[in-house]
Amino acid sequence: MITIAPQRLIARAPSLRLLWSAMLVLLLSGTAVIAQGDPKRGLYVANAAGCIGCHTAETKDAVSYAGGRALKTPFGTFYGPNITPHPDAGIGRWAEADLVRAVRLGERPDGAHYFPAFPYASFSQMSDADLRDLWAYLRSLPPNAQPSRAHELRFPFGWRFLVLGWKWLFFRPGTFITDAKQTPQLSRGAYLVSVLGHCGECHTPRNFLGGPNRDRLLSGTKAGPEGKPIPNITPTRTKKWNDAEMREFLSTGMTPDFDSANSTMMEVIRNTTSKLTAEDLSSMIAYMRSVPAIPEDK
Ligand code: HEC
Ligand code: HEC
Repeated sequence: MITIAPQRLIARAPSLRLLWSAMLVLLLSGTAVIAQGDPKRGLYVANAAGCIGCHTAETKDAVSYAGGRALKTPFGTFYGPNITPHPDAGIGRWAEADLVRAVRLGERPDGAHYFPAFPYASFSQMSDADLRDLWAYLRSLPPNAQPSRAHELRFPFGWRFLVLGWKWLFFRPGTFITDAKQTPQLSRGAYLVSVLGHCGECHTPRNFLGGPNRDRLLSGTKAGPEGKPIPNITPTRTKKWNDAEMREFLSTGMTPDFDSANSTMMEVIRNTTSKLTAEDLSSMIAYMRSVPAIPEDK
């Protein structure tokens, strides 16, 4: 048995205390660095998630993130709200926790439910670090006083409390779980496609209540969010393009036969896929290649 004489313990105490406080300082400064979001990284997250598209009007002089963008759906027209830090028109009075709640749970600070036109069903699994940086980025935007515009929804879809039923049926909040059998590249690709890129919001077919058909992920639909057809992006269809061709399409919108993407996808390319790092774009493509090939919907 090892015993330490009391006098030796006392003699050692100051150095122990010093070591302890040094560790504490390290620990605290470490948390401070982690807790402080990085707005530059946040801009990258915002791009990868295409936030600007739905939250900026389509007019030439529109202010980024000041809202006003019309999103036509079978349920009516939604208008992306102002999300600049303006205290009245935007989200200036919000705390970081309010953004986390909105993105993770689709809940307003007062507890009301957001319509799933705000793709929180995909964003729900956003990582803590990405949310923190996203918050830091949104805080860095110039506040803009343009009031958000009320949605124009068909009866009875304008009733917010009905969203509770939709959530109960279709919304599965949760954290992004990396499949241990997957390579880091495929996990990153899955996160970019399913969470940040929310590609399935358009490319996955939905039932008449707007619930995604999970057996047919990314397999396209005859009537997407705007009622127009959306192609299958599982290997059934995308195998016609090699990686370089896919990369070209997602960077510029040009197809191998010199066609260009239509306006809906062009916007995704402009706001999101063209802004990804080469590495992230490769991960996204690798993941698209890895999903089950689902036949075209006849
Ligand atoms: C496909 C379109 C779309 C995309 C992409 C999108 N949003 Fe939204 N967002 C909406 C709509 C529509 C609403 C309003 C929902 C409602 O009124 O229930 C909304 C609401 C919000 C709100 C709540 C504002 C308020 O005043 O209550 C915040 C915050 C927000 N979005 C942030 C973001 C961020 C951050 C991103 C990117 C990570 C993003 N949105 C991407 C469509 C979108
Ligand atoms: C707002 C709806 C929308 C979203 C979100 C969306 N897409 Fe698309 N996508 C479309 C439409 C519409 C087309 C058809 C474009 C055309 O015909 O020119 C398309 C076409 C494509 C194609 C070409 C398929 C082909 O064979 O012609 C690829 C690849 C693609 N999308 C990948 C993606 C990826 C990856 C994401 C997520 C980062 C994504 N899309 C998000 C609407 C969307």
